[in-house]
Amino acid sequence: VRYVRITSEMSEAVLQHLRDSFFADEPLNKAVSLCERGQSHAALERLCAATMADGLSLAAMEGDTSTEKIQQSSDEKYNKIFTILYTVSRDLDLFNTYQVDRILECRIISVSEEARGRGLAKELMKRSVDLAKEKGFKLFKVDATGAFSQRICRSLGLEELRKVRYSEYLDDAGEPVFQVPPPHDALCVMVLKIP
Ligand code: ACO
Repeated sequence: VRYVRITSEMSEAVLQHLRDSFFADEPLNKAVSLCERGQSHAALERLCAATMADGLSLAAMEGDTSTEKIQQSSDEKYNKIFTILYTVSRDLDLFNTYQVDRILECRIISVSEEARGRGLAKELMKRSVDLAKEKGFKLFKVDATGAFSQRICRSLGLEELRKVRYSEYLDDAGEPVFQVPPPHDALCVMVLKIP
């Protein structure tokens, strides 16, 4: 396995990976049936592309995978997801709370279905924390939407700043906005203070 920085030439291939993995499987995307596996999503892809353009995204690649190969929306389902993420983060006011002017946020972590459970996500997250340190960030933040990403964050020393249980996150009619099957039960905003 090689761990590499994602370059602009890789971004199309990374987007293809995300369409096959994250877009369908991330717990909140799945709960609202945002995408079928392989389906594209314009707004989410714009977010991914903008995040990759920041130059701090990492990929784990295996075997002979070449770099070339890796190379607010009108969608109400999409808006549901970003409403919970944005409102929780806005309320936390992290820049003021931690007195920082920059935060490295891990927005998306995604591993191909057939490569899951081998520690790749944990290693990628660990390397992202290392990158945050190297780049002088004082705070690393993750909106961990499922049990596995939360487990990874805890094991790397991130603290849980806010937990919103999906069963208690209700719409105007008092119904849960997201039906998220176990083991995923909450959104956790997790942070690591970097000395
Ligand atoms: N069942 C039980 N435990 C599991 C499972 C599983 N299916 N998958 C992972 N875990 C546990 C592992 O045992 C490990 O815990 P441990 O270190 O205590 O043993 C921990 O979760 C991390 O395991 P990794 O192997 O590092 O994770 P993996 O490489 O499989 O990737 C990921 C995890 C990224 C969540 C993957 O399942 C995925 O791509 N899911 C779809 C997208 C998604 O949900 N991403 C996270 C959303 S939050 C965000 O993006 C910021």
